[in-house]
Amino acid sequence: MKFFADTADIDAIKELNDAGMLDGVTTNPSIIAKSGRDILEVTKEICDIVDGPVSAEVTALDADTMIAEGRKLAKIADNIAIKVPLTWDGLKACKVLTDEGNMVNVTLCFSANQALLAAKAGATFISPFIGRLDDINMDGLELIEDIRTIYDNYGFETQILAASIRSVNHMKDCALVGADVATAPTSVIKAMAKHVLTDKGLDGFLADIKAAGIKIL
Ligand code: E4P
Repeated sequence: MKFFADTADIDAIKELNDAGMLDGVTTNPSIIAKSGRDILEVTKEICDIVDGPVSAEVTALDADTMIAEGRKLAKIADNIAIKVPLTWDGLKACKVLTDEGNMVNVTLCFSANQALLAAKAGATFISPFIGRLDDINMDGLELIEDIRTIYDNYGFETQILAASIRSVNHMKDCALVGADVATAPTSVIKAMAKHVLTDKGLDGFLADIKAAGIKIL
């Protein structure tokens, strides 16, 4: 499973990238607003750091303006994935922008039927939001499983990009059911390294190192 960082925090992106944990980045209007920076400028900086796809989202609601915005975003760098919302206009924009050779990430997906439409529109990525479904007592993971089954049934190449990830368990569950990509806050990706028995084991080793005076350097 590929890991994308769901952030515009440059330092956090660099740290994960240097550790070899980063296959791409996703942003959305809320993330850009939080960064307090110009969308074109911060997106360019991210594209210069990361080799993989960097999602930048359109802001318009009608297909024609989405297409114009998408074309402008695509000029930022070769690794831009244009993010469009899963609306009828978003699907029309997806078809045009993918036909022009762009990567397109269709976002705000909350049902298997929406994902089926996005695949037919040629989306490179479909972004089902699992955390927001869990928030309203629905089953986000079940949606990932359903999309996996449908895409495999028909050989769709659209990649399932599990989004709105809130926990390390979401990461494991997405990997188990075959999501192609998971995008998560960098804190969640780093927390995957933690285990209480690792910490306890290290405490024991450190005590023995100190008692025995073991030195390597
Ligand atoms: C995905 O591309 C979105 O940016 C993101 O995962 C949304 O997550 P949230 O529900 O935590 O805002």
